[in-house]
Amino acid sequence: MRIAVLTGGGDCPGLNAVIRAVVRRAQNHRFEVVGLRDGWKGLLEDRMFPLTRENTAGILHRGGTILGTSRVNPLTVEGGAEKVLSNAKKHGIDAVVAIGGEGTLSAAARLHEHGLPVVGIPKTIDNDLNGTDYTFGFDTAVSIATEAIDRLHSTAESHKRVIVVEVMGRHVGWIATHSGIAGGADAILVPEEPADLGVVAEHLKRRYAGGTSFSIVVVAEGTKIRASPDEPEHVITSGALDEAGRVRLGGVGQYVAQELERRTGFETRVSVLGHIQRGGTPTAHDRVLASRFGVYACDMVARGEFGRMAGLRGNEVTSVALADATRTLKRVPAEYFDVAKVFFG
Ligand code: F6P
Repeated sequence: MRIAVLTGGGDCPGLNAVIRAVVRRAQNHRFEVVGLRDGWKGLLEDRMFPLTRENTAGILHRGGTILGTSRVNPLTVEGGAEKVLSNAKKHGIDAVVAIGGEGTLSAAARLHEHGLPVVGIPKTIDNDLNGTDYTFGFDTAVSIATEAIDRLHSTAESHKRVIVVEVMGRHVGWIATHSGIAGGADAILVPEEPADLGVVAEHLKRRYAGGTSFSIVVVAEGTKIRASPDEPEHVITSGALDEAGRVRLGGVGQYVAQELERRTGFETRVSVLGHIQRGGTPTAHDRVLASRFGVYACDMVARGEFGRMAGLRGNEVTSVALADATRTLKRVPAEYFDVAKVFFG
């Protein structure tokens, strides 16, 4: 049996750990493994190379992906699905292991309907995929954001400032909620909840009145804001589009900082963590989760469980239909966010 592995979407700590795990488990099954370059693009453009124990050694702890990645969706390319299927056939590929987030795995679900034998592995620092309690990469991103918040506390306290920390989270506020709770944020703004800067300003004023002259506000990049009472809520973007045609986010932290300074009169700064959250070495937790997913996905291939993805339920790795996992995004539940609210102000 010959299996092909790809990594699609944004890079994410733990991708190399999964690739290594798939290759190592494939040896047990006597499968041959090839790596597709740059996500689905590798199969579209016929770019692949053999993956062996030797060329996947020493990558467990490394960030990024040795396969490269892209957000290219073959289904939005003219004749893309046919090209993917014919290239898979040409190279004798019996199964594809697609490691990705919502975009990559939605494409995997559709390509499976076209006849491609595919198994998915959920990755995203955003943790917004359904069908799994956690994705690998999320723990690392939260750890990085929490450390940043801890460090920003020093400056906020010494200078008696408000510091707004913008974290990733395109559609959901998992990173903001977890790092905000872990870092002791005084307010957290997430896409799941309407952002009321009037309420946040009141929290900050109350803290100052109570004798605490600094505050930390965490905001997820996809949080919708309302610039004036008669305007609809909207996401702040740079105006540019990415490879997948999605708007590039960014700017909400700056907006929130300016607004809070205007409403409170407190000196305010913004810190945008950006891709720092996605880079570098994965935490031990993410290395373990990625390794478990990689081994399990390879076993799914051996069992012929196609059109499905490995997912974490409690502490068990299970198999979930790709179509179910990609139907909707996993948002932060209101009762979960209520825990964060206990610590606001
Ligand atoms: O991986 C998902 C994500 O982290 C989103 O939160 C963010 O909007 C996006 O990636 C940005 O990715 P890029 O700048 O690489 O297009």
